[in-house]
Amino acid sequence: MSELGSIPSIAANGANIPLVGLGTWELRGRACARVVEQALRLGYRHIDTAEMYDNERDVGEGLRASGVKRSEVFVTTKIWPNHFTPRDLERAARDCLARLRLGEVDLLLLHWPNPNVPLAETIGALCKAKRDGLARHIGVSNFTVALVEQALAAATEPLVCNQVECHPFLDQSKVLAACRGHGMALVAYSPLARGQFHRNELLNRIGATHQKTAAQICLRYLVQQDIVVIPRSSKLERLTENASLFDFTLSESEIAEIAALAHPDGRTVDWAYSGRMKWD
Ligand SMILES: NC(=O)c1ccc[n+]([C@@H]2O[C@H](COP(=O)([O-])OP(=O)(O)OC[C@H]3O[C@@H](n4cnc5c(N)ncnc54)[C@H](OP(=O)(O)O)[C@@H]3O)[C@@H](O)[C@H]2O)c1
Repeated sequence: MSELGSIPSIAANGANIPLVGLGTWELRGRACARVVEQALRLGYRHIDTAEMYDNERDVGEGLRASGVKRSEVFVTTKIWPNHFTPRDLERAARDCLARLRLGEVDLLLLHWPNPNVPLAETIGALCKAKRDGLARHIGVSNFTVALVEQALAAATEPLVCNQVECHPFLDQSKVLAACRGHGMALVAYSPLARGQFHRNELLNRIGATHQKTAAQICLRYLVQQDIVVIPRSSKLERLTENASLFDFTLSESEIAEIAALAHPDGRTVDWAYSGRMKWD
């Protein structure tokens, strides 16, 4: 049995997604491979990468070095929006698999919406990638509620998640309700608000009552609502902390207090980025 024991999963339109995964944005090279290897040895069974992170080779190396069977690990990657025409998407997905040295990924996501390519075409190509065996499941990321509805209307295969920024400082209740209504999981990126949590007095106070850290309170708040979390850490010693979330429960009043931390400027990722992005 691994140090963390078994991390629970959530069912989403045919997928079983482990509630805790390892984020890998900004991790590269040997350091990335080591963190992935160590996380899997400890008991993580879900790794999040993307073609844009420029680390898929390292993630694949860490996966092989861990000795954990491929079939036990849920690997997600994401296609960058400059590859959203059908021909580009297929090539990009195959390139991801070649870098990861995997025959298929468990989840293939559209990383951000791209207003310059008709969504129905891109969703059609994503569904085809699934049918062609490049991905076991497909989904989207950074999609608004309206875009999720459009994507679902165009899809001929189930969409299993929308990966969006989500943490106590941001109210994502609308997108969460939309995901739930369609049987999709909400996967929370930047679930630690990129480190902003540790100065927060409330999270520290609630942590002290449960003998947990503020980071664990932040993550428990999400997983207790069946939200998948993918915290990133470059520090091996934080991997256990970030996945040790299933031996305590927050009370309803603690959940309500944490929810009240949300504020309109809570985003750490600038959504205007999406509008300013150079797509081609
Ligand atoms: N779909 C998208 O558009 C999108 C966008 C952003 C992120 N993501 C995904 O989501 C993942 C997570 O989001 P993120 O990387 O933005 O941020 P995050 O996981 O919210 O925060 C990472 C930061 O928190 C620190 N940290 C981690 N565990 C800690 C702990 N226990 N105590 C104190 N500090 C801790 C890390 O520092 P150390 O390294 O020093 O521990 C790092 O600076 C990414 O890695 C990526 O896989 C997806």
